[in-house]
Formats: sequence, C-alpha cells, structure tokens
Amino acid sequence: MRLATVYGSPTPPGKLARALGLLEQGVRDRHPGWEVERIAPRDSIAPVVATWGDDAVERIGGADAVVLASPVFRGSITGTLKILIDMLPNEALRSKPVGILTVAAAPHHFLSAERHLRDILSWFGALPTPNSAFFVDRVFGDAEVDAEAVTDLREFADQLVVLAERLDGRHFGPDPLTVRFTRKRT
Ligand SMILES: Cc1cc2nc3c(=O)[nH]c(=O)nc-3n(C[C@H](O)[C@H](O)[C@H](O)COP(=O)(O)O)c2cc1C
Repeated sequence: MRLATVYGSPTPPGKLARALGLLEQGVRDRHPGWEVERIAPRDSIAPVVATWGDDAVERIGGADAVVLASPVFRGSITGTLKILIDMLPNEALRSKPVGILTVAAAPHHFLSAERHLRDILSWFGALPTPNSAFFVDRVFGDAEVDAEAVTDLREFADQLVVLAERLDGRHFGPDPLTVRFTRKRT
C-alpha cells in the first residue's frame, strides 16, 4: 500500500520537514507492506508561496492514505498547501484516511490549522484520523527530538495505517455536497 505525505511548507527544510521525515521513516521501519512518498512544492513564486509539480494531484489520488502536513501560517494552513488542495478533485480524497500534522511557533495555535483542514476534509468526504499531530516547532529544533514527540508521531502514523488497511476498498455515503450538487438529474 502507499502513503503520500504532503509537505505543505514553502520554506524547506525547516521543522515540519524533520517531523515528517521521522514519521515517514517510522512507517518504512514498522510497516514493510507500505511505500511512502513525499509530495513537496516544486517552485517558489514568492518568499512564502510555492507551487506544485504537475504530478502532485495524480500521486495523491493514487495513494491509499495521505498525510497533510502544514506549518501554521496566520492561524491557518499555508497558502501553498491550499493551492494544491484546490487542484484536487473530490475523488482524490473521498473515503480515504487522511492524517493532519501541523507545527507552529506558539502552543496556543494548536488547533488553528487543524480545524480548517477538518472542514476541508468534510468537503471531500475524506476519513480524517481521530487524532492529529501538533508540535511546537522548537521540538524539532533541538539536536535530539524528545521521546514524547517520537511516540506521538509513531501513534499518529499507526492509526492511519490501521484505518487504511481495515477500510481498503470501502466507499462511504452519503455523497458529499459537491457530488450531490453537481450530479446530473435524470
Ligand atoms: C508567514 C508566516 C506566518 C506564521 N504564522 C504563525 C501563526 O499564526 N502562529 C504560529 O504559532 N506560528 C506562525 N508562524 C511560525 C511557523 O508556523 C513556524 O515557524 C513553523 O515552524 C514553520 O515551519 P518550518 O519550520 O517547517 O519552516 C508563521 C510563520 C510564517 C513564515
């Protein structure tokens, strides 16, 4: 099976990249039946905005599970990640397990990007994991990442893998609004 990790930061490598790297390595080590591929922005078009390669949409659509990873920017996700999300057709995430990984400078912003992503995932009829992963960025600035963060990342990835394996091939209704309102009436 295949996990696509979406690195939603326009400013690599950074703290989010380190968190995502640990998550990805953990899945490769503990779940040998899984391939992991990271989808990252390709070109910077402004200091904090980047765009994606032409294959990004297809790679997400073909994955069995997805991690959407974003630093908190202005109390929300990055514009860079939103650019990619706006290019995804509904089927790319419909009935698909999706985990949310965010980092921010301020601990008070722990739900700020997550809640926006959960709204967006409802539009897709995706299967957001029950628990997201949030970290204050300095955790990934230290030479050694503390054990609690490593455990959180492991548990976060494991729930995604379990959901995807147990629900493989299942499709859940009712159709999300976008499907209902664009369906041709007979
Ligand atoms: C444009 C911009 C907006 C940001 N807005 C917030 C914010 O609203 N709340 C917060 O806690 N941190 C904010 N930050 C800090 C980043 O979330 C934090 O530094 C994060 O680690 C950046 O990701 P990176 O280290 O992977 O580059 C902002 C950073 C930038 C560049």
